[in-house]
Amino acid sequence: MAADHFNVGLLGLGTVGSAFAELLEERAGEIERFNGRRPVISGVLTRTRGSFEDVLSDADLLVELIGGIEPARGYLLRALCAGKDVVSANKQLLSQHGEELFETAREHDVRLRFEAAVAGAVPVVRVLEESLSATPIERIHGIVNGTTNFILTEMARGSTYAEALAEAQRVGYAEADPSDDVSGRDAAAKMAILARLAFGSPVHLDDVRYEGIEHLHGDDLEYARELGLGLKLVGTAERCQGGLSVHVHPTFLYSGHPLAAVSGPFNAVTVESETITELTMSGPGAGGLQTASAVLGDVVSVMTGGARPPAPPLALALIEDVESAYYLHLDVADRPGVLASVTKVLGEHDVSIKSVVQRGMGEHARLVMVTHPVLESSLREAVQRVGEFDFVRSEPRTIRVIEEEFV
Ligand SMILES: NC(=O)c1ccc[n+]([C@@H]2O[C@H](COP(=O)([O-])OP(=O)(O)OC[C@H]3O[C@@H](n4cnc5c(N)ncnc54)[C@H](OP(=O)(O)O)[C@@H]3O)[C@@H](O)[C@H]2O)c1
Repeated sequence: MAADHFNVGLLGLGTVGSAFAELLEERAGEIERFNGRRPVISGVLTRTRGSFEDVLSDADLLVELIGGIEPARGYLLRALCAGKDVVSANKQLLSQHGEELFETAREHDVRLRFEAAVAGAVPVVRVLEESLSATPIERIHGIVNGTTNFILTEMARGSTYAEALAEAQRVGYAEADPSDDVSGRDAAAKMAILARLAFGSPVHLDDVRYEGIEHLHGDDLEYARELGLGLKLVGTAERCQGGLSVHVHPTFLYSGHPLAAVSGPFNAVTVESETITELTMSGPGAGGLQTASAVLGDVVSVMTGGARPPAPPLALALIEDVESAYYLHLDVADRPGVLASVTKVLGEHDVSIKSVVQRGMGEHARLVMVTHPVLESSLREAVQRVGEFDFVRSEPRTIRVIEEEFV
């Protein structure tokens, strides 16, 4: 290869890998004009093509677009130990072996870039690492899974969960096996990575509590609309009680929250800090070309000498029991005294009510309420006791509510 070439070894030539190879070829001339070196693909590895050793030895930098844990982890460690910079879009790997990889990158003074691992084309990693590196961040909320956001958008328009999932599969936003997306696990992996970036504390996927969207009822969305709320799968990472809480849950938002307007397969991340109040980044969270453009941005960042490996972590305690407002849905017998009995039990557990919708349905009534912020453990105890009343006709349902609106 010519000396003015920057050699990129490519691991994986699937949806993102092939889009990346095409984009790199298309943009190589422009990148050369700015950087003086022309990026070229110097070797490719797939299941049926190439040898890792050859790809590694020819490369100035490796791009990993295989996905999953092994063999990607082994390849990245070997590349970092060989002093090669690495770019990866692999959220599973980074959320489960991030510290090992960052530590190896630090030891060998090489870069490990991963913009495409969270929120696809939205440059949230770089903004957290660079633009906001001197900003003490209080909280991050993210819609970081486009599949579930698409499904919830369809449900808000009146589809059932099954219809919305089938439509997501038909248009290519959901895979044949959508379980990682709809269970919240994919979003949890991305929130682990974002939390590590924003708070400098190691967060493993196993530290993130998550809940998916499979169990949601269309009528929750309907009642919530009457209360001025819309439903999203929201990941949260926040400082609380001197520690850090990271979780993913279906969450109601008031219309003034910046994430409320994010619809379809889009992703968005909101960063809150006293210094900057709130800023939101949004855009396409997946797709071959969109993800490839984030990967190419990382390659160019390495070529221009950008961002060093993240600093060694300072562990914050992980807090599980956090405060939130809640939506509470109860099916009850329509008889006098029911609302009073419910609010008495809630009050005994410090759960205070912000708003209520009550609707009679023959012998039954629906009680839908939104609480003020309360510790999750108190809410759970109160709901369990309410569920024991003989007038309660089905399992009470609860969904978190984000109260802030930035209007
Ligand atoms: N697709 C998206 O929209 C998107 C968005 C954000 C992030 N990502 C991330 O980007 C990465 C790649 O995703 P993708 O959708 O492009 O995956 P993909 O279409 O399944 O492609 C995977 C590629 O890796 C190769 N590969 C698989 N196992 C291998 C092995 N053991 N040894 C060598 N090569 C192997 C495959 O080889 P063969 O060609 O021989 O099968 C294929 O070329 C993943 O980490 C994913 O999470 C994807």
